[in-house]
Amino acid sequence: MFEAVGSGSSDSRSHTKGRNKEVTLTAIKTIGIIGAGNIGSQVARLAIASGYAVVISNSRGPETLSALIAELGPKARAATPVDAAKAGDIVVVSVPLKNYRAVPVEPLRGKIVIDTNNYYPQRDGHIRELDNESTTTSELLQAHLPESKVVKAFNHIYAAALTTDGQPAGTPNRRALVIASDDAEAKAAVTRLLDQFGFDTVDAGPLKEGWRIQRDTPGYGPRRTAQELRKDLAAATRYAHQH
Ligand SMILES: NC(=O)c1ccc[n+]([C@@H]2O[C@H](COP(=O)([O-])OP(=O)(O)OC[C@H]3O[C@@H](n4cnc5c(N)ncnc54)[C@H](OP(=O)(O)O)[C@@H]3O)[C@@H](O)[C@H]2O)c1
Repeated sequence: MFEAVGSGSSDSRSHTKGRNKEVTLTAIKTIGIIGAGNIGSQVARLAIASGYAVVISNSRGPETLSALIAELGPKARAATPVDAAKAGDIVVVSVPLKNYRAVPVEPLRGKIVIDTNNYYPQRDGHIRELDNESTTTSELLQAHLPESKVVKAFNHIYAAALTTDGQPAGTPNRRALVIASDDAEAKAAVTRLLDQFGFDTVDAGPLKEGWRIQRDTPGYGPRRTAQELRKDLAAATRYAHQH
């Protein structure tokens, strides 16, 4: 049921959706990051280690990110969310889910947007469509960004593990991470990025299947190989069936 993508595709066709500059898989130079907390800062570290430029933002303003920028070095700069969205060839959204509507829409048109977010009602407040399971977190972001290509990724790994669990492609029992998206080319691009960051990829299918890796599912949190993750995805149940 779930396709193991393994190491990255070499497909270099360009994206045509939206009206931002075309992004080819071989032309991704800058990762934009909206949200500079646990996950956003770790993705920034991985991106810098893989040779990308990083433009990272938070809610309080670029000046509050000087320590992180000093750590990341000359290929990183802090910006506003709008500027990070404009600068990124791929843009990572890693804010508390309750703030997803603040993610700028226009500068992300046509772009691949990686969604790391999870739903915690105690933090995010209750969101009716998630409580009644009529949608999923990444579908909410996709609906907010209708002309972007949202890819769910990084939502089920603890932030600290991002910089400790990555291994080179081909390593036996390499850790795998789940992706989901409605756009095949975006999935190929993110698969390649994850491979560079040290992880295999398991494709859960379209965004509407993203619930299979949401909070309280078997694959959420622990270190898993691709084979194990595929079993976890198949064994996942919706919240309504868990209690
Ligand atoms: N922590 C984990 O291990 C983990 C793992 C997987 C997925 N996730 C998910 O990833 C998301 C981020 O988690 P986190 O732990 O990294 O959160 P976090 O440490 O609280 O960081 C959140 C970041 O988002 C920024 N932010 C908040 N509202 C914003 C806005 N409107 N515009 C721009 N930036 C905004 C915050 O900036 P300020 O500080 O300036 O307000 C902060 O930099 C959550 O949905 C979480 O569930 C977390």
